[in-house]
Amino acid sequence: MSWGLENRLSRIIRPDTGHTLMLAVDHGYFLGPTRDLEVPRETITPLLPFADALMLTRGVLRTSVDTGSGTPMVLRVSGGTSIVGGSLADEGITTPMEEAIRLNVSAVALSIFVGTDHEKQTLLNLSDLVTEGERYGIPVLAVTAVGKELEKRDARFLSLCCRIAAELGAHFVKTYYCDDFEKVVEGCPVPVVIAGGPKLDTFEETLQLVRDAIERGAVGVDMGRNIWQSEHPVAAIKAVRAVVHEGASAAEAIGVFEKAKSEKN
Ligand code: R5P
Repeated sequence: MSWGLENRLSRIIRPDTGHTLMLAVDHGYFLGPTRDLEVPRETITPLLPFADALMLTRGVLRTSVDTGSGTPMVLRVSGGTSIVGGSLADEGITTPMEEAIRLNVSAVALSIFVGTDHEKQTLLNLSDLVTEGERYGIPVLAVTAVGKELEKRDARFLSLCCRIAAELGAHFVKTYYCDDFEKVVEGCPVPVVIAGGPKLDTFEETLQLVRDAIERGAVGVDMGRNIWQSEHPVAAIKAVRAVVHEGASAAEAIGVFEKAKSEKN
């Protein structure tokens, strides 16, 4: 890896803890105005000080984040599909590397759809993006997407996806937490972060999910809905931070959440 690429990656995965809390706000690229992300700036602004990196599209970056922000940006560069269209897997590259450089981002991200009719196209998208990213020192995050088929999220399938992403050169991988998650991490020679998925019934479950993922080898989270769809998003991100960076248990992090809720934020 080049110095520039490693330097950018180290802005996302903090060298002092070896972990990262990425805040995902890219959902609109196929879901439109997702609940509680209708006005991106309003969702992002209070949470930004607590995020190690922000994952988003160029449209939201340009319109909804101040240019003075020091937070590393992870730019989603795949898309071209929508929740009401034919297939969520039929993604192409939406944003060229030149634009990623112009926007001064710390990494680019794209989805791969293993096991679908568009597997080859999305895997070749990844390979091309890695080649270009390495030319300019920009790390690539591969997202092991499942589209609407949430039931696919098991260790056998996610191990396959993560390993293929790493083999094609992804510098880090985003996947889902699952039973036997340590096997997913073991088979993937680059860092793994987890998505949160749809909002869970309780915030305790979210914190336990994060804790379990970290204990089983994830370097962190790239989480969206379970933070910003909370009734108390700032308290929620502070609690997730406590687990990711301070090794808090879920119970300890609930304490952080309750304390932060009672403070004005
Ligand atoms: C979905 O494809 C988006 O890329 C999100 O970034 C990802 O799902 C993480 O967000 P959440 O924690 O809401 O699942």
